[in-house]
Amino acid sequence: MTITIATAPGKAILLGEHAVVYGRPAIAVPLAEIEARAEFIPAAAGQGVLIQAEDLGRRYRLSGAAEDDGLAAAIRLTLATLEFRTEPDVTVRISSTVPMARGLGSGTAVSTAIIRGLAEHLGHPLPPAALSNLVYEIEKIHHGTPSGIDNTVIAFAQPVYFVRGQPLQRLAVGAPLTLVIGDSGVASPTRAAVGDLRRRWQADPERYEGYFDEVGVIVEQARRALEAGNVPALGQLMVENQEILKTLDLSSPELDRLIEAARRAGALGAKLSGAGRGGNMIALVRDGEAAAVVEALREAGAVNTLVTTVA
Ligand code: PMV
Repeated sequence: MTITIATAPGKAILLGEHAVVYGRPAIAVPLAEIEARAEFIPAAAGQGVLIQAEDLGRRYRLSGAAEDDGLAAAIRLTLATLEFRTEPDVTVRISSTVPMARGLGSGTAVSTAIIRGLAEHLGHPLPPAALSNLVYEIEKIHHGTPSGIDNTVIAFAQPVYFVRGQPLQRLAVGAPLTLVIGDSGVASPTRAAVGDLRRRWQADPERYEGYFDEVGVIVEQARRALEAGNVPALGQLMVENQEILKTLDLSSPELDRLIEAARRAGALGAKLSGAGRGGNMIALVRDGEAAAVVEALREAGAVNTLVTTVA
């Protein structure tokens, strides 16, 4: 058997995070510049599955891994789905350039690369929809109540308009988008931000449903702007979405500083991306103006920046 290599991109949510958990639409794009990678290296008979997590400096056997180990869970789920009752003899080397706990889909990209690669290695490549469904099962272990947007955009590796529980709707992007992503340097576990908002929603559902409705309307308008290639209108809608996220207490002083710096440097729109409270912000910029926004973000404290084009 030969070595199998599988990758999966990072992702950014353009609009609609959090409200998407409550059934409203959201828009997300894959980030090809950052990716998770899983290599499947055939091993001697009897070895079983050996997991080598390069970034975590860990090396362990599947048979000894804890139930809640995410990497092992992805492998076990794939084997069970493909009805492999005995472990294949393979070393699984996992690495990723997607920063962890920053709202860029690090865990999802790793699960996707593992499941895609293992299925292929065993001679049963999975179509994107089946892959996405399996990754979603792993997402539930990590996040509790994920909307499914991360596994969808990453498994399909395409811009998506996503509504929870509905089949993927592909987005035809009318004009290329240049995005600048800035990392606030603050780790923000998705589960905590989502759980906290859920408690507040439970205490006052009417109020929060109202905010989610507003986000839903913004995302609908954004979809039309995006498909029509109306980039300035899309930027303005990102600004409006950020206002609501701020009202929902999902921003942070660090994120606010970066968002303001991007806008002062000429960005058409800027907002937090993902769970919020930390992690990354995302700015939509005119073609040729990314460098100025990157510099402004660095000066305002971004620990990392990434420029990407969505075509
Ligand atoms: O995993 P993150 O940080 O990109 O956040 C996911 C987006 C949320 O809407 C906050 C949660 C979800 O499940 O959609």
